[in-house]
Amino acid sequence: MKIADIEIKGALLAPMAGYTDAGFRAVCSLCGAGAVFTEMVSAKGLIYDSEKTKDLLYTTPAEKVSCAQIFGADPYFIRAACEHKIMDKFALIDINMGCPVPKIVKNKEGSALMLDPALAERVVKEAVKSKRVITVKCRTGFYDSLSCADFVKRMQDAGASAVTVHGRTREQFYAGRADMEPIKKAVESVDIPVIANGDIKDKESAEKALKETGAAGVAIGRGALGNPFVFAQFCRGNASMTAAQVLDLHIKILSEIYPEKKVVNDMKKHIAFYVKGRKGGKEIKLAAFKAQSLKELEEIIRYI
Ligand SMILES: Cc1cc2nc3c(=O)[nH]c(=O)nc-3n(C[C@H](O)[C@H](O)[C@H](O)COP(=O)(O)O)c2cc1C
Repeated sequence: MKIADIEIKGALLAPMAGYTDAGFRAVCSLCGAGAVFTEMVSAKGLIYDSEKTKDLLYTTPAEKVSCAQIFGADPYFIRAACEHKIMDKFALIDINMGCPVPKIVKNKEGSALMLDPALAERVVKEAVKSKRVITVKCRTGFYDSLSCADFVKRMQDAGASAVTVHGRTREQFYAGRADMEPIKKAVESVDIPVIANGDIKDKESAEKALKETGAAGVAIGRGALGNPFVFAQFCRGNASMTAAQVLDLHIKILSEIYPEKKVVNDMKKHIAFYVKGRKGGKEIKLAAFKAQSLKELEEIIRYI
């Protein structure tokens, strides 16, 4: 798949707040992800020089096709964020039009932009003026999926180079099965690449989604948590890395950004995914949640 002139091979790592940190993006890249997205960062936060926002945009050379995701609904701040120097290191900037969380929606941001396509268009048109490659990630709709294809077409016409569509409406949040039908209609309505997303967790579900939608590629979210190795099914990644090795690297990278206490806390939720459903997993998870230091956590990782 090509987005503007960026070649992307393999499946993409979807943006996930609290999870797609620089460490996880690096390990997913090493395992074969074709592109990796930061979690959504506030356009205003960046312009107001928030250190937290900048930390979320930390990258390492291990990251392959690094993509930043921003959120906001004010065209001025969106453009300013896209023009920010920190964005030089990203291959593209994705605009979040899918977040369902009430505090975001209340500000007309995230999925609320699907209720106001004229504003969404202005946001994209301003972003494009930054001369960066701009993409959009949306849902199939807010209340229903009737205008999905029309919305995606409007994003294309406003200048987006690709659109990722999560096959659920905002009303659905994360419940129910992702619906591929509106994504198919979106694919048919545009010339730019459409990336299918929702419930894709392995090669089989990816092939099914590609067949059903005709999409140019797939993005994997929850299916990659605790399982960055999933990307090796799509592209020649380093499939021989063990969970302990990827966790070590993940910790090493987070330690470049954050103090030990935060690294320990952030790693606990990742570790929980690595051991989910495994024999003895519950004990490992409990031990990890009790850990107070990286030394303790590193000991525990040896058992994963
Ligand atoms: C914990 C969590 C955080 C998420 N954060 C973001 C985000 O920051 N930006 C975004 O566009 N989507 C976000 N999403 C949505 C995912 O990118 C994806 O669209 C959704 O989970 C469906 O794909 P999946 O079934 O492969 O997980 C998040 C999802 C989860 C579960």
